[in-house]
Amino acid sequence: MKSSKVRQKYFDFFTKKGHKLTPSSSIIPSDPTTLFTSAGMQPMIPYLLGEAHPQGKRIVNSQKCFRSQDIMEVGDNRHTTFFEMLGNWSFGDYFKKEQLGWVFEFLTKDLGLDPNKLYVTAFEGNGQIPKDRETVEIWQELFKTAGIEAKLNERIFLYGAAKNWWTRADSPESMPEGEPGGPDSEVFYLFDQITHDPKFGKKCHPNCDCGRFLEIANSVFMQYQKKDKGFIELPQKNVDFGGGLERLVAACQNQPDIFKIDLFWPIIEKLKEDLRVEYGDGQNSTASLRVIADHIKAATFLIKDGVTPSNKMQGYVLRRLLRRCAVKIHALPQGRPARSADGSLNDSRAWEANDILPKLVDPIIDIYQETDYFQTGDWDQIRQTIAEELIKFKQTLKRGLRQIKKIDKVTGKNAFDLYQSYGFPFELIEELFLEKGQKVSREEFDKEFKKHQELSHQGSFL
Ligand code: SER
Repeated sequence: MKSSKVRQKYFDFFTKKGHKLTPSSSIIPSDPTTLFTSAGMQPMIPYLLGEAHPQGKRIVNSQKCFRSQDIMEVGDNRHTTFFEMLGNWSFGDYFKKEQLGWVFEFLTKDLGLDPNKLYVTAFEGNGQIPKDRETVEIWQELFKTAGIEAKLNERIFLYGAAKNWWTRADSPESMPEGEPGGPDSEVFYLFDQITHDPKFGKKCHPNCDCGRFLEIANSVFMQYQKKDKGFIELPQKNVDFGGGLERLVAACQNQPDIFKIDLFWPIIEKLKEDLRVEYGDGQNSTASLRVIADHIKAATFLIKDGVTPSNKMQGYVLRRLLRRCAVKIHALPQGRPARSADGSLNDSRAWEANDILPKLVDPIIDIYQETDYFQTGDWDQIRQTIAEELIKFKQTLKRGLRQIKKIDKVTGKNAFDLYQSYGFPFELIEELFLEKGQKVSREEFDKEFKKHQELSHQGSFL
């Protein structure tokens, strides 16, 4: 099933259940305390806290999301920084029984997923919030309707706050005052064609990182708010559901590699053709192609929503994405024929990122043409922003990489020099030295940065 069909089926399903469809908000939130919209619930916070939503108590949508914290995870079969989150919300209306029943119905009936391949989780409780027995009982009833006896630790798994408590902060303890949160229940799809890798632990389970299980749905029972002395119950019990569209499509196709679905594959194909590299199991280039495909898509969405590369805030993250793509392209096997800007084949020098990456905007527009994200846009400006940033970086990229090769033992000083003289974002320097088995100290780097700022400040008075 293609992504546009999954998206539409989700909208239809929840519209029939009385939800109103609302458009995606910008990927750049209006709330200045957060850099990016990283979950569908972010624009819904006022309504989760009690304000009346103009469209009512039941809302459905697909939200464009960006998670910068996941940049380093990209490269495996399932992580991305940009994704679409299908979401439905109850603002003090229905709760656990309806929500979990609908999720099960949508996944098994509308998407046709085999219930035998679905595994679910619930909150095991902590000192302050009790174990979520109700969720366990609801799932047991639901699986029973499909002829499955859902036993604990076989079909239903209990986890602590690290896995089954949802908040925008890292943990219940680090939630700022006023922040809403609550226990959640996730649904995982099992790819039984993959064998468990003991490197990730003795026994495989839904939250194991070996890639057999893929989280496809998350229902948060948003009923608490952090206050100075702990948690209080919100005046209304809410539901905040999120399911990554890319992952749902992968599950529908029983395809463990989300880069092979229609939301990514045309970008990978273009890259394979232009870079003349292979994609697939055992190919060294696979992880790099995934990183480039993800980052260029994320960059396109960020630029479309008004971000330009810079040294600050969202602009810095955009710069980091584009420069990381350039490094990945540069590190691919050299010396093979590639396509130049006019489409003809020529030698390896045509591999320059500033030629290749702007052209990827075209398959991205095609992929999203049925959505309202890309109905209109200044595509030339997007291509040009990408090209200009990469041309700037091209001047120093090769020299910077040569310099990194020469450094035997990295210090804060030479890490700062790479940042200052060659335009390598800190995180990229960190990654490149990690590949050489060396750790860059953020503290030492920051010290050098500060020293430099003080010197330039003094300089400005000379
Ligand atoms: N907020 C939850 C999540 O991001 C559910 O939408 O997973």
